[in-house]
Amino acid sequence: MAKSDSRSPYIGSFVLETLTTGMYGESRNALREYVQNASDAVAAAVSSGVLRERAAKVEVLLKDEDTLIIHDNGIGIGAASAWGTLTAIGASKKDRKRDAGFRGIGRLAGIAFCDSLSFRTKAAGESSETTVTFNCVKLREGMNPESGGGKPLVDLLSEAVSSTTNDDVEAEEHYMEVSLSGLSRAPEEFKELDLIKEYLAETAPIGYDPKWEWGKKIKAKADELKKPLDIVRLHVGRTSQDAKPVYKRYRDSYPAKDDAVTLTDVEFLQSEKWWMWVGLPDRAFSITDPTVHGLRIRVKNIQVGGPEHLDAVFGRRGQSYIRFNRYYVGEIHVSPTALIPNARRDGFEDDDAWEDLRTELYTKLKYLGTRAHKLSDDRQKSLETIEKKVEGIQEDFDQLDLEDPESEDRTHLLSKTLRVRSALTKALTKEEMRGEVRLQLRSHLAEMNAIKGKLEGKSSQQDARSLRATIRKEVIEQILDLVKPYLEPPDFAQVKKQINEKVR
Ligand SMILES: Nc1ncnc2c1ncn2[C@@H]1O[C@H](COP(=O)(O)OP(=O)(O)OP(=O)(O)O)[C@@H](O)[C@H]1O
Ligand SMILES: [Mg+2]
Repeated sequence: MAKSDSRSPYIGSFVLETLTTGMYGESRNALREYVQNASDAVAAAVSSGVLRERAAKVEVLLKDEDTLIIHDNGIGIGAASAWGTLTAIGASKKDRKRDAGFRGIGRLAGIAFCDSLSFRTKAAGESSETTVTFNCVKLREGMNPESGGGKPLVDLLSEAVSSTTNDDVEAEEHYMEVSLSGLSRAPEEFKELDLIKEYLAETAPIGYDPKWEWGKKIKAKADELKKPLDIVRLHVGRTSQDAKPVYKRYRDSYPAKDDAVTLTDVEFLQSEKWWMWVGLPDRAFSITDPTVHGLRIRVKNIQVGGPEHLDAVFGRRGQSYIRFNRYYVGEIHVSPTALIPNARRDGFEDDDAWEDLRTELYTKLKYLGTRAHKLSDDRQKSLETIEKKVEGIQEDFDQLDLEDPESEDRTHLLSKTLRVRSALTKALTKEEMRGEVRLQLRSHLAEMNAIKGKLEGKSSQQDARSLRATIRKEVIEQILDLVKPYLEPPDFAQVKKQINEKVR
């Protein structure tokens, strides 16, 4: 007869290493985990009626080089369950359909690089707050194979985690304040306010900049589809008073390889498991802002990974198509029931659902690759044609007998030069000819002007003078082009006028 064996399995402290120091490549991913918790908590507070939606707020405060705080006025945790909830590992009471978290490990992320991690929390209507503090120095020692004794994880946690209560509180208040202190081990990006903002603007479940008109339309579309965006009001700063709201960095114009691109339209696509918007830029250039370029996937409005997932989808068509993802901006909002984010939240569990989604996206987004390819091809072709003509004229000119003012070749070449000259002038009026390309066109134009002068028989002195004047004009125009984005239109007009008056 089989005998039952009631011995408990042994779970060693080294397991904790996998969930903390070994988990996230980018230290700021820890911030995403705390903001994710805060956002679940304010949503729970709103749906349970203790918080008005408009009053919900999450603050990320970098108090000083050594202390970072994430505060929310969400549901909090009641005194009876605070210790149990905050010391449990891999056990979450959240519902994956409703909440962004579900694994019960995210809040441990900070253990990797602060000396003390504390959770001060209170539920509405209760008369005390609880603070649970993780001594991270002790925890790291215990989970390090070099220095730790490999004791049971439960023992290590009992030694390194403590709890206190405080009764001097307002009964109606409800909150969670996570403090990461002793940040000497933390990488620089975790201690720089601008880098913190940049990271959160890219990943957190926040809204679009209220000044961005397309953002309003995207939000309205989500509502119309009955898939409203999960948006938390997030403020970041040094103190609660100076903290400023952070928004996603989508806007109308983006820096691109050759200057800038501007959106001409936003398109929406949808399927049973996802909906998306894509911003269509006027020109085909790789957008260089790494915080927004490329289509990205979000679940519960939290970014999962970066543009690399869609780079790979575009690339299914061929290596040369990978780059086209970054010619666009956009978000693919996937239903939380359709895909399961992996533990690091940089991708999804490798199952059929993830594979099917990528195949579906590949089919539906193929047209974006074709569009980018065509736009960049057209531009390339028109430039190549002009360049060939310029080369042809230079060759013909080199072979021409300049001593013969009546030569037919000379008249013929002059009319060809005039045609190419006017093609160049026309190309220069086009918006898309910017940056280096523009410079190149201008230098071709100067050459055509010089050849024209020689063919028309002007003296070489006159020639040099007019070439100098052309070059001066071009340099001025180039400088004006460079400063234009930094000036308000009236100031720009003033600067232009002054330069033209003084220099010409
Ligand atoms: N800001 C908060 N307000 C209220 N409760 C919180 C807060 N942060 C964490 N908690 C509680 O602590 C639990 C554990 O948080 P943790 O981030 O480790 O796991 P999770 O959010 O449940 O899942 P995941 O690992 O996917 O993030 C949560 O399930 C929640 O009950
Ligand atoms: Mg969480």
